Amino acid sequence: MTGGSPAPGASAPRPRVFVTRSIPEEGLRAVLSACDANVWEGDGPPPREELLRLIVGCDGILTMLTDRVDDEFLDAAGLGLRVVSNMAVGYDNIDVPACTRRGIPVGNTPGVLTETTADLAWALILAAARRLPEGERFVHSGAWRTWSPTHQLGLDVHGATLGIVGLGRIGQAVARRAIGFGMPVLYASRRRVDPAIEAGLNATWVPMDDLLARADIVTLHVDLNPSTRRLIDAAALARMKPTAILVNTTRGPVVDPAALYRALRDGTIRAAALDVTDPEPIPVDDPLLTLDNCLIVPHIGSATEATRGKMAAMAAGNLLAGVRGERLPNSVNPEVYDRG
Ligand code: DGY
Repeated sequence: MTGGSPAPGASAPRPRVFVTRSIPEEGLRAVLSACDANVWEGDGPPPREELLRLIVGCDGILTMLTDRVDDEFLDAAGLGLRVVSNMAVGYDNIDVPACTRRGIPVGNTPGVLTETTADLAWALILAAARRLPEGERFVHSGAWRTWSPTHQLGLDVHGATLGIVGLGRIGQAVARRAIGFGMPVLYASRRRVDPAIEAGLNATWVPMDDLLARADIVTLHVDLNPSTRRLIDAAALARMKPTAILVNTTRGPVVDPAALYRALRDGTIRAAALDVTDPEPIPVDDPLLTLDNCLIVPHIGSATEATRGKMAAMAAGNLLAGVRGERLPNSVNPEVYDRG
């Protein structure tokens, strides 16, 4: 039988979906039970050619931040595509206007990773300020002979001034943790937050240049978009204190990596701690990897068992709503629903 309504008693075909990586059970179960699902089991993301072949004719696609969703991708999927569900809060890998033009809702996973990502930002702040990776290398190398009054002196975190660039959900969660460290918080963002929130966080809204000049620790929590790409360039780094630390848990391209290398090498700033790089993964011969004062971890901001489970469940919820023609619980382009 081709087309038409299913015969009485026959069940409707299950939606065809592609899931671009093996995801935690909390999301996978729901997808497998409701869909005719193809899950990429490879070690790493599907190569582009393979991806474009595997999504042909899909009703829904569950993507990762490592998959580029653009016109080529949407053309390959075809006219039946009803949803792109990204298992991340960030969606700079997706050409959202291209999806919107085609009436395709795009899902993301806000909220569930806020606290976990703020925890990692704090792990990086403390590790960079107290030079933990250097200390660990020192011990493992056998160089530790005795206690020293001058060895591996770092920066006091308690009482230091914390500069938060972007006081959204994650920025505020980072600021809440600063209360316990007795830290004044400066923040720069497009809009001032509610004064009651500012008061609760001991946070003061300042121009970006002031923040850079006054903060002992600068932590980045802005989305990646054209206005934030290379926000931290050579000029921004030059405004920071030579004793200051830069922490990035958002997206690598917010920082100019060549300028950061020079600033760390020349002592323009004290140290950096990065969960994200540009590109990702950072090549093993990248000059940043030669520096003792640059700590880099592999984009693990949301990487806890509980949080990745919640993200998978949320991404599955968006995918299933989309293939059923229902409104996504979390979409970044709700304007697709206003088009009648
Ligand atoms: C996101 O969700 O955008 C993070 O970068 C990965 O969890």
